[in-house]
Parts: sequence; C-alpha cells; structure tokens
Amino acid sequence: MKALILAGGSGTRLRPITYTGAKQLVPVANKPILFYVIDNIVSAGIKDIGIIISPETGQEIQKAVDEAQLWDAKMTYITQEKPLGLAHAVLTAQPFLAESPFVMYLGDNLIGIDINSFVHSFQVNTPEAQILLKEVENPSSFGIATVDEQGRVIRLVEKPKIPESNLALIGIYIFSPKIFDAIHEIKPSWRGELEITDAIQKLIDWNATVYSSIIQEWWLDTGKKDDLLNANRIVLDELLKTDIRGSYCEESKITGRVVLPEDSEVINSYIRGPVILGHGVRIEDSFVGPFSSIGNKTRIIGSSVEHVVLLENCQVNGISRLEDSIMGRNAIVRKINNIRRAVSLIVSDDSIVEF
Ligand code: G1P
Repeated sequence: MKALILAGGSGTRLRPITYTGAKQLVPVANKPILFYVIDNIVSAGIKDIGIIISPETGQEIQKAVDEAQLWDAKMTYITQEKPLGLAHAVLTAQPFLAESPFVMYLGDNLIGIDINSFVHSFQVNTPEAQILLKEVENPSSFGIATVDEQGRVIRLVEKPKIPESNLALIGIYIFSPKIFDAIHEIKPSWRGELEITDAIQKLIDWNATVYSSIIQEWWLDTGKKDDLLNANRIVLDELLKTDIRGSYCEESKITGRVVLPEDSEVINSYIRGPVILGHGVRIEDSFVGPFSSIGNKTRIIGSSVEHVVLLENCQVNGISRLEDSIMGRNAIVRKINNIRRAVSLIVSDDSIVEF
C-alpha cells in the first residue's frame, strides 16, 4: 500500500495567510496540518508516500517535510504543473503509484481518527475504492454520496445543488489501480477540473465495488479562518499534554494544560490552558487564554489574547483584548492610541496593524 498526499493548490480561502505560504503548512497547535496527515498515514504502516506539490509552494513543502525528519517513510515529491483537479493529480502520480493500491489524502484535512482500520478493511474486502464520509450541514459545498445499508456507494455527485444526502466525502480515499482507467474516461467539470468524485462514479457505473465508511469523529477542512481556529481548539483540547520546561516568575500563574519549552519565558503573566507556546516565546505582563497557539519567537507584551493562532515571530503589544484571531509570520499588532474594545483579526505575514 502506498499513499498520495495532495498538497498543491493555492489556498485562496485562507487568504491572506496563504498569500505567502502553503495552506498545508499553516500550523494547528504549532504543528503544520500536513504533519498530522503524514503521522496518520505512517501510523497505518504506510512507508512509501508521494506528495503532490505545486510549482508555487512545492519547495516550501519539500523543505518543511525533509527538515522535520520525523517519519520512517520514503517521500517522493511530484509536481502538478497546473491545478487541474484531484483526479488530474492522481494521473500525474501514476508513474509513482504504478500497480499499487493507495490511500489518497487531501493535505489540508484533519480528522480525529486513525485511518488504520479503513486501510485494514480495504485490504480484507479488496473493493476498487473505499471512501470516508461524514454527515455535514451544508452538503452543497462538498462531494456527496448516496449509500445503501451495506455501505456500498450507489451514487456520487460533486457539490450538488439539490443534495440527495448529507454524507460528504471528507477527502480521504483508498483506491485500486482501476481508478486510472476511470480517470481516463472522465471529462473536466464545470469548474474546469478533473474531479475524483466523477472518476469514482465511473467505477460505480462499471459495477465495481465502492465501499464507504461514515465517521462520527470530528473532521475539519481547514481551508477557512473559522475552520482553522476550530481545528486549533479541538486539537489543543484533545491532544495537548502539559509540558513545562521554561521559566516563569513567582508573579506568574499557569493553570490548565500548557506547553512551555525550555527557551521560552513567562513574566508577570497568567497563562490559562490549553495553550501551547513555541520556542523563544516571551509573554510579559499579559494574559494568554484558552485555545491559543503561540508560534516560535512570538512576543506578547501588556496584552490579553484568547482563542488565537499566532505564527512565528509575531508581536502583540498593548492590546487589551485580541480574540478569535490568526496572525501570520512576523506580523505586529500594537497600540498607539487607547482602544478598549476586543479586536478580532486575520493578519497576513509581515503586516503591521496599529491602533
Ligand atoms: C474536494 C472534493 C470534494 C470533497 C472536499 C473535501 O473539494 O472535490 O468532493 O468533499 O474536497 O474537503 P474542494 O476542496 O476541491 O472544493
């Protein structure tokens, strides 16, 4: 079994954060989304992983994964020259995938469950395709499946105007090499893309077995600001374990689950977990409230923040309340004049916001 991670695309929905970087590398609890994806694949015992990258952000992704050296797996980077669809990405990877069955995983999706059991049932039942589904409230925004009582997929439609069900494809699929034949038979959709949903429907048309599993656990498509903050909240809530190695003075207070690395410091401040602080972070005369992820070298001075994702090397200075916000690398938010109201922002890399 191989795996193919799709980490191309331009991340338009997460702009402005993704103007300057790959959406798959945006961190959740200080770890890039893509790394959770790789963790999940590797823990299912898959060691041969292809990563589809785009010419725009591919180098950045390759560097991040190679430098992390976190996994006992072989990574092969495959450039998709143009974003012509998920099925087009699979075709581009055909020389890598060859005759092997493979897990296909969208690199900006997070799920609260191991894929292990799905890989196992694919190997036991040997269908041509297996898809993971979850009930959603807005089915018109996704690929939607109709299934029978045995979990066999009867029909799939990409972003239907009138949905037949509320079971969405969550961007994790397992395929036999038969999928290549199906992709060769489909035409681009209205959005000009070769849709993997259409290719799977083609398999169904040919009476091939397509199984589904419905997941009850959380699933977050981290493409948008609120999704990202939500993902951050859930991951901190479910996975964070207290690890305090850095220094904090007597006047400071730390409650709840907090990660404070050895080279970070908390001075005259209150940290209420779950909160993760990166390396070289300085918190001074401040409050850092629950569900906050603070990137490496970020400084929070004389401020109060809560439910925020702050990337590397940010500065928050003199802000009485910053909440539900994302700040890109090197961004600065500081007070010049008095503001009393809470502020909620999405600030891209290298920006300066002054009040
Ligand atoms: C893609 C798939 C869609 C699926 C979704 C999951 O949509 O085409 O079937 O439900 O991912 O995130 P896209 O993100 O390309 O709009």
